[in-house]
Amino acid sequence: MNKKNTILIFDTTLRDGEQSPGASMNTEEKIQIASQLERLGVDIIEAGFAAASPGDFDAIDKIAQRVTASKVCSLARAIDSDIKAAGEAIAKAQMKRIHTFIATSSIHMEYKLKMTPDEVIKRAVRAVEYARTFVDDVEFSCEDAGRSDMGFMKEISDAVIEAGASTINLPDTVGFRLPFEIGAMVKEMSNYVGNRAIISVHNHNDLGLGVANSLEAVINGARQIECTINGLGERAGNAALEEIVMALKTRSDIFKDYKTNINTKEIYPSSRLIANITGIEPQPNKAIVGKNAFAHESGIHQDGMLKNKSTYEIISPSDIGLDMEDTLVLGKHSGRAAFKDKLAKLGFVLEDEALKSSFERFKIMADRKKDIYDDDLRALVTNEMTKAPKIYELISLQLMDFSEGTPSSVVKIKKDNTEIIEAGIGEGTIDAIFKTIDRITNQEGKLLDYKVQSVSKGKDALASVTVKVSFNNEPAIIGHGLNIDTMLASARAYIGALNSYLSMQGKMKSHHVDSSKTV
Ligand code: KIV
Ligand code: ZN
Repeated sequence: MNKKNTILIFDTTLRDGEQSPGASMNTEEKIQIASQLERLGVDIIEAGFAAASPGDFDAIDKIAQRVTASKVCSLARAIDSDIKAAGEAIAKAQMKRIHTFIATSSIHMEYKLKMTPDEVIKRAVRAVEYARTFVDDVEFSCEDAGRSDMGFMKEISDAVIEAGASTINLPDTVGFRLPFEIGAMVKEMSNYVGNRAIISVHNHNDLGLGVANSLEAVINGARQIECTINGLGERAGNAALEEIVMALKTRSDIFKDYKTNINTKEIYPSSRLIANITGIEPQPNKAIVGKNAFAHESGIHQDGMLKNKSTYEIISPSDIGLDMEDTLVLGKHSGRAAFKDKLAKLGFVLEDEALKSSFERFKIMADRKKDIYDDDLRALVTNEMTKAPKIYELISLQLMDFSEGTPSSVVKIKKDNTEIIEAGIGEGTIDAIFKTIDRITNQEGKLLDYKVQSVSKGKDALASVTVKVSFNNEPAIIGHGLNIDTMLASARAYIGALNSYLSMQGKMKSHHVDSSKTV
């Protein structure tokens, strides 16, 4: 039997994915995602862009200390200060990589960088040489490779390989290319580079071709694919990890010479974790992980499925770790051991404190909710594990006059063991709640976005609320709240955002990458 080629999976959910509007995450959330990516079997985790902010640096540093089975990588522009930050942030990782890049297309060199091609090569070589003083594994990206001149890419690749780069990444940064064009580019570059470096691709999805382009790249010699869970990423996103991996597996008749190290049973848990943390749900008809990806609605299809699943199903839900009959057998009388066991089956390993608080919340939920599904548990535990430190804690909420009069709320909040109670009014119920919280906390919050989704089914479904708030005119922060009661979930989400904001103050000036550092 032929030895199969391993296609390395480089996940950039925590870097390019975080650049999705509204997808910014706090450090604890990033650590949970990195641990899940490790369980998924990702070869390289791009944990962030260390120079972007102290918060990004801190998250990469913590991930580097936590993750052992995957390589931890930081992005860096081809600038000494970026590379130093990247090298220091990943220093404690067992396996590490610096990913440095500079644009190679004439559009970018002329208008963005205002540099000549020779200057770009010099900068790239310096960046790789300097990065090699921190790590043995350096990846170099020709940003906007999709629109770059082939001759120039060969020239810069020769130079950076000579300087010590072992991976050459060819991003279709603006998602412009068609599969046959990516195939031709990858073929020419991989023939040229030979075994001097691995050829990688990084396809954006502006024309909905990110996955198709990545598969074509594999056929033509790419041995690393950069991608994100749920296809998160800038603009229309990046090529979706789950689609690439399942295409390679399901069409093993075509891709018989290739394999990945991904444990596909961790795909669904990974997708849910990212959706729960970012509040960005994959579209219902999204391939592999959308809510309807395995739903057979028409009578003819259902009939076929009952007779033989292969009539309409090319992937078994269990292959991606989706249990179609996921009603939890636990109830309000279940003990902590059974609860812990169930969480372990769902891939959550909780420390004592998080287990205790999750169990308490589970008991409260089980008291009020008849059927508890795996997705409910996933949402609850994710919410519990990724909370910012509790500076303010919601104790109680009372609401009045939903219908005719002025909506009003009474909120009780605890801070430093002192309970504070206030009443307030607003244009609507949410407005009344948030304004009352502002009065208690003495902060001025501006609500920029508000989303509510049901976690599973039934009238008693858990409401998952995501808010995006700018406090005191500073960059927006995301907060999440989960409860059977939507108003309570909303209050929790708002206070969660406030706690994140306050805990980040002092640690960092801005949670977001400032525009001069956007990649
Ligand atoms: O899309 C892109 O070009 C990138 C690079 C930084 C790899 O994200
Ligand atoms: Zn990108």
